[in-house]
Amino acid sequence: MNTQSLDLFSQQFHQNPYDYYQNIRPHQPFAKVNMFIEGQRTWMAFTYEAAEAVLKDDRFIKDMRTVFPDEVTNENLPPIAQSMLFVDPPDHRRLRSLVQSGFTPKRIAKLSGRIEEIAREQASLMRNKKTVDFIEDYAFPIPIRVICELLGIPSEDRLDFQRWSNVMVEISDNAHYDESMSEFMTYLEKLIKEKRLSPKEDLLSDLIQVEEGGDRLQSSELYGVVMLLIVAGHETTVNLIANGLLALLTHPDQLELLKADHSLMAQAIEELLRFNGPVEFSTDRWARESFTFMGQQVEKGDHVLVSLASADHDPAAFADPSTLDITRKKSPHLAFGKGLHYCLGAPLARLEGEIALRVLLEEYPNLTLAAELSELEWRQSLIIRGLKRLPIKLV
Ligand code: HEM
Repeated sequence: MNTQSLDLFSQQFHQNPYDYYQNIRPHQPFAKVNMFIEGQRTWMAFTYEAAEAVLKDDRFIKDMRTVFPDEVTNENLPPIAQSMLFVDPPDHRRLRSLVQSGFTPKRIAKLSGRIEEIAREQASLMRNKKTVDFIEDYAFPIPIRVICELLGIPSEDRLDFQRWSNVMVEISDNAHYDESMSEFMTYLEKLIKEKRLSPKEDLLSDLIQVEEGGDRLQSSELYGVVMLLIVAGHETTVNLIANGLLALLTHPDQLELLKADHSLMAQAIEELLRFNGPVEFSTDRWARESFTFMGQQVEKGDHVLVSLASADHDPAAFADPSTLDITRKKSPHLAFGKGLHYCLGAPLARLEGEIALRVLLEEYPNLTLAAELSELEWRQSLIIRGLKRLPIKLV
């Protein structure tokens, strides 16, 4: 098998990407592929060693304005592409520092009571149903309600956010993308205008104040960070909870172990992130210059992606990587990335994952899968690994 022989957006790939990675990893740790942008060379890192090396190497940069100065400018770059995830130092440091303090483990731990309330509410809303779509009824609303409360935006609008953020991470045509971005911008413009008039105790009001202060946050960057947090809040933790439940249901011995001892939950979350994590590939990186990397000649402007899912199943980094073992002790998984762009929301995602699965198992200890594995449909995204629906029988 090689990198050209499979459609990485296909259901066939998503049903079991790990077999594909297992075949390709030993032969092509860092492989050249031609499947993305016409005339653009893309490299993919498949081994743990290559993945970690790319993520830590500052010659692989994020800002397209630096790599393609003639084509990409502030004017034609959407605000989200001007957020911390898509820029390099010193802008990266400046933008990350504006929100960093709200996401430290200590600050996030204070949210545990409220997250538990939300999880219990969502669990009780499922009470009279025998079968549910676990994503729609439970895995999706919990992280969305939390990020909306943190930002101070109405979670009732979450279906709109979902639609707009889907367009950013799934395959879509340009017209559809532009239309969704413009709706998203119009929505944020109205929201930010209202917040300016009556600020509250929330992250969005704090950011607006910084922007009004002058030199630390430009207006397009304000929109960028809000969009990034909404998208990150919508696309990731939902799939930690849903992919995690699926992994447990398909490994009943591990599920029983966890049900018998909830103190294993934090360890279990780390293993679920490694085993079937929500982010399949990193976001785009670009070679700032030409150089030799892992024995390959990389040219200035080459596009680079890291398969976090493949790295986290590399036997060179994890003993028996295809086994789900919630008692696994040390897990240096890359599910949250590594280096400069290491996930800002990791403490929040871990806490939400732990609470959501614990509450679920307390309220519905006998839940089972209500579909054949082969019937489950995966979303058409290279970045996000997540199901479209997860039918679950609750009793
Ligand atoms: C299980 C859930 C999550 C996973 C697996 C995850 C994964 C990741 C990964 C892999 C990256 C780095 C991407 C790269 O280097 O290309 C990242 C960055 C980021 N994540 Fe998360 N994420 C999760 C949840 C969240 C949440 C809940 C938030 C915020 C509310 C968040 C906010 C961010 C931000 C702001 C960045 C950019 C950091 C930077 O550029 O410095 N993430 N995430």
